[in-house]
Amino acid sequence: MHELFDAPRPLVLDVGCGKGRFLAMRASRDPDRNYLGIERQLVRVRKVARKIQRLELHNARVIRVEASYAVEFMIPPHCVSELFVFFPDPWPKARHHKRRTFRPEFLNTLDRILLPGGSLHVATDHEEYFQVVRDLFEEDDRFEPCTIVAPADDERTEFELIFSAKGDPVHRCSYARCSRK
Ligand SMILES: C[S@@+](CC[C@H](N)C(=O)[O-])C[C@H]1O[C@@H](n2cnc3c(N)ncnc32)[C@H](O)[C@@H]1O
Repeated sequence: MHELFDAPRPLVLDVGCGKGRFLAMRASRDPDRNYLGIERQLVRVRKVARKIQRLELHNARVIRVEASYAVEFMIPPHCVSELFVFFPDPWPKARHHKRRTFRPEFLNTLDRILLPGGSLHVATDHEEYFQVVRDLFEEDDRFEPCTIVAPADDERTEFELIFSAKGDPVHRCSYARCSRK
């Protein structure tokens, strides 16, 4: 994974990075960490790649790959300092819940890839999915609540801008991998 970048630095993941508004802006402000966007839609990946090139970001990259495959097989153990999942697809129908990012197995993967003290930040407009995410973390003693990260105005993702414009509430939570584990 480190070979994607010009130098090894702590890694930040944006899972389902969409068009990359958050990824590009954060990476430009945080040159001492490497930012990797993971996105499966080719059109969006191309947009993010163009943004990275235009801004000449040495510390941002995007890969087109299924997120579960990327985090499980491509990310080395204990190298991620922060991971963002903003507006993950909620898959509201019960028969589609198995497609959700947040399932118990995902927490095992997070435990493997996060540095001790490394953190995960989630935002969603979907109240039921938000509760599912919170319950998963609250019941798992490998993680503890940490300071909630809200993006600056110019970092807000495309989906957040859409939901905010409609006046829909945005739910956020953040958890850190316990350093003692
Ligand atoms: C609702 S959009 C949110 C995009 C962006 N995070 C934002 O807030 O604007 C969800 C994004 O995650 C991507 N995505 C959904 N499931 C994915 C998966 N399994 N692997 C990779 N990308 C995925 C979608 O293509 C889409 O761009």
